[in-house]
Amino acid sequence: MNTTFPFGFQLPLAFYLTIYVLTLVVHVVLMAYVLGGSLWLTWASLFPGKEKTPRTMQPVARLLRDWMPFALSGAITAGVAPLLFVQILYQQQFYTANLLLGWRWMVVIPVLIVVFYLLYVVKSRAIASWALPLRVLLACGVATCFLFVAFCWTANHLLSLDQSQWPTVFQSGNAVTSAITLALRLATWVCGTLPVMSLLGLWQLRGMRSRTAKWDAEEALVGTSPTEWDYRFSQENRRLMILSVAGTLSAFIFATLYYSQLDQKVRHSLTGSAGFVWLMVLVTSAVAVILLSLSRRKKSVQELSTLLGLTCAQLIQLVAAASLREVIRLTQADLTAVTQNAADAFQIGGFAVFLIFAVMNAGLITWCIVLVKQK
Ligand code: HEM
Repeated sequence: MNTTFPFGFQLPLAFYLTIYVLTLVVHVVLMAYVLGGSLWLTWASLFPGKEKTPRTMQPVARLLRDWMPFALSGAITAGVAPLLFVQILYQQQFYTANLLLGWRWMVVIPVLIVVFYLLYVVKSRAIASWALPLRVLLACGVATCFLFVAFCWTANHLLSLDQSQWPTVFQSGNAVTSAITLALRLATWVCGTLPVMSLLGLWQLRGMRSRTAKWDAEEALVGTSPTEWDYRFSQENRRLMILSVAGTLSAFIFATLYYSQLDQKVRHSLTGSAGFVWLMVLVTSAVAVILLSLSRRKKSVQELSTLLGLTCAQLIQLVAAASLREVIRLTQADLTAVTQNAADAFQIGGFAVFLIFAVMNAGLITWCIVLVKQK
């Protein structure tokens, strides 16, 4: 790999790598909302604060509760596309890791089903009358389910990279070959979800603010005066901006520690011709997110230009992170086999049919959203 990723590969491989990275980013955006959102709700339940309105009833928590079931379906649906491409590119590594993870891999789907229904319980009005410990337990349960699913994906990915460990893992049944590497990688992902979730929350707060006038007294914070309402919004905006900075910084610290655990060869490709440009893009976009978040943290409503700037910076950051993730994998993979897999898949038709169904599904999903909004 002597050229910036994904250039320098044969066309089929470059094509599949590009769409894999782009579709993975879409999955990550929605996954970040549910994982980061469940952590926010856990924090709000554990530390409701001393104000008249507990944190669980403040705007961000209300938005998260309302939107998380939808975002989870989105995250699952958006996971299917990269799942398809990862199987085309890295069949042997991916399937072997699945088999070695065994029951932990099999249990991902039941856990997702359970958490999907739990999110509706979290959303229901009935839980307002539940005892506090029960509500805290529910919030922790939801976050644990998401953390478990994230753990499984990370463990699967690490296992797929390390072919030399497969026989030992098969014999011992212990799927985690290095707890430190896994913990650092997982921590990078978990912290990395926070800025993305914050950004989506900021967009939602902006929308909520413009709809506030139409809100009925029960839906808004009961008995809250306009000045208090203003204060509440600026407080929530500030919290999200600070979370964005804290998440970006901590993700960077964990990523650097993870980098220090990597093989010399892998580190060279990250800082060499394949990854250097992406590394620079990642650092620059992260700095942009931090500076923008710090400079606008005191606003009660974020200006459109700030939100657009943050959105661009975060999307670029995610594409860069996903590209570097692929550079790490390709350095350890059998490039001849991966190139052959992509070339074989490229021979098979069906792209037009795929596009037709993609457009049809996007249309149906939009129609569902419009129908729900009209109710
Ligand atoms: C909402 C629950 C989910 C969470 C929290 C989650 C989390 C994650 C995380 C953290 C990674 C990155 C792993 C790493 O690089 O170490 C990942 C990758 C991935 N996820 Fe998800 N995920 C979820 C659901 C799903 C579902 C249901 C699918 C499939 C339909 C899916 C498909 C993928 C794929 C294909 C990858 C890339 C795998 C690879 O390249 O090895 N995810 N996910």
